[in-house]
Amino acid sequence: MCGIIGYIGTKKASPILINGLLRLEYRGYDSAGISTVEKNGLSIMKDKGRVKNLYNLKGIDDLDGTIGIAHTRWATHGKPSKENSHPHMDNSKSFSVVHNGIIENYNELKNFLKGKGYNFYSQTDTEIVPNLIHYYYSKDSNNDKYRVLRAVQSACKDIKGSYAFEIISKYMPNNMIVVRKDSPLVIGKGDGENYVSSDIPAILSFTKDFYLLNDNEFAFLSKDNIEFFDINLNKIDKKIDSIEWNASAADKNGFEDYMLKEIYEQPSAIRETIGSRLPENEPCNFEDLNFSKEFLSSINKMYIIACGTAMHAGLTGKYVIEQLCNIPVTVDIASEFRYRNPIIDKNTLCIFISQSGETADTIAALKLSKSKGATTLAISNVIGSSITREADYSIYTHAGPEIAVASTKAYTSQVTLLNILAIYFAEVLESTSKDIITKFKKEILELPAKVEEALKCSDDIKDFSKKIYQEKDVFFLGRGVDYNTALEASLKLKEISYIHSDAYAAGELKHGPIALIENDVTVISVITDENLVEKTISNIQEVISRGAKTLVISSLELPSNNIDFVINIPHTSVFLSPIVSIIPFQLLSYFISKEKGLDVDKPRNLAKSVTVE
Ligand code: G6P
Repeated sequence: MCGIIGYIGTKKASPILINGLLRLEYRGYDSAGISTVEKNGLSIMKDKGRVKNLYNLKGIDDLDGTIGIAHTRWATHGKPSKENSHPHMDNSKSFSVVHNGIIENYNELKNFLKGKGYNFYSQTDTEIVPNLIHYYYSKDSNNDKYRVLRAVQSACKDIKGSYAFEIISKYMPNNMIVVRKDSPLVIGKGDGENYVSSDIPAILSFTKDFYLLNDNEFAFLSKDNIEFFDINLNKIDKKIDSIEWNASAADKNGFEDYMLKEIYEQPSAIRETIGSRLPENEPCNFEDLNFSKEFLSSINKMYIIACGTAMHAGLTGKYVIEQLCNIPVTVDIASEFRYRNPIIDKNTLCIFISQSGETADTIAALKLSKSKGATTLAISNVIGSSITREADYSIYTHAGPEIAVASTKAYTSQVTLLNILAIYFAEVLESTSKDIITKFKKEILELPAKVEEALKCSDDIKDFSKKIYQEKDVFFLGRGVDYNTALEASLKLKEISYIHSDAYAAGELKHGPIALIENDVTVISVITDENLVEKTISNIQEVISRGAKTLVISSLELPSNNIDFVINIPHTSVFLSPIVSIIPFQLLSYFISKEKGLDVDKPRNLAKSVTVE
């Protein structure tokens, strides 16, 4: 997904911008570019392909400008090409712009500008922006220091859609303007210099002090100062937020890939998620939530809404909340939820899960729920991210930055947090006995050690991956929460190994999928629930008798049978088991991807944070 970097200070901007873009590579992109303010006007260097190609562009070393904007593009309008890469300039080469988001009425605006004599050289929606700014700039006769800002504001009024813009201009050689609506953008404050980014980790090594821009807010930056304006260009005050993340936490730390590092970080990430939320002999402590018994008793229905891996975490959230709180929970895919007029009212609690907090469909679903009167609660890994600013309440997974596109530690932290949240609700509602809750809390506190133990299966999984990495199809089976794990395992495998895979509730097998089972097809099952073990084993026998090769991941003593491979993992209570049982599957996808020589951290066609629909 597109990424933005900006720098304004006294140092040469171009290396800082390119380094920043390198840190954004994990978002997924197809082209990159920078633009700086030089003595003789604005420069632009851009091309399709990797960020590091920018270093080879002729003239890049001659750039001396100390103000610049930069972008990694993930094509939405127009194919990946040099012309379509950002930054984009207006016809007179006076304004340079980078953009994240989508301009919905760009055709209309393009036709308007064409009518005024402007030409267009790319297929992008973004190219209208510098030209529209130029149009309004030319019409303004007041030549004070905010003339460009007024032109940007007028342009924004015309634009429908989502955007985070960075703008530099030859008419304001010591300033930069940024504005956002429905796309992420933060400003990092340094000493005599300032940074802009779509992502906090990209500029964490420069500063820990950030201003979080809200929708329709403008920032007018110089190297020593930042002025903030609302939609009507009235000056506003903004408070600075300090981010605790350590810059080295965003590096690989000696691991070959970010994904492997993040898989091994899970015991500590889960510890962080638990934090001080489970004090001994006291109720759960969620400092940011103060739900009363009266309020929670008024809730007669909950939704958990998310995309991808976060949605799979939500599936387990449903099981545990329903069980402990006796409130029905529906799990929805955000992109479906937002278009199907869900039945929601003030007695509904909608929980949104998003690692990045920037997923466009999840944010849209949140806005829809709010407009229908629901109470909204965001679960995110990124402090100050868009969903946390939109929601009535926010809680954080505190898993640390997740860089690899395929989500691992964010998932296990989300499932952990949902379990703690369910206990919190149950304690407020007094809907589950104290004994059960005390036992459950103890199991949660033991999770980091159990995940640590589960990671020890790495060598066995690596051996197994060598047996199946050339497969065309792999099937995953599970019942109850193990079905949730099967779904997430299948997604992981697809994402990074490009092997077709499907996950089925084991009981559904005979209603269709069994037709696909033939000699040597790989079927992987997960069994952690003692109440369901026999049922799942019978389903496994059905595939064995049709020639399937079988692997079972289990935390239980299995009845002796003819399963080809069994990998044991530590046992925990049923709602927590997806946290432990996903570990071998994460490793399996990782090793298969490595065996196939693929780019584990940046799988093809995928983006870490999907900020467009
Ligand atoms: C993308 C990523 C997935 C992620 C999903 C939701 O599709 O590739 O790994 O699970 O977005 O992301 P979020 O940041 O909202 O959790």
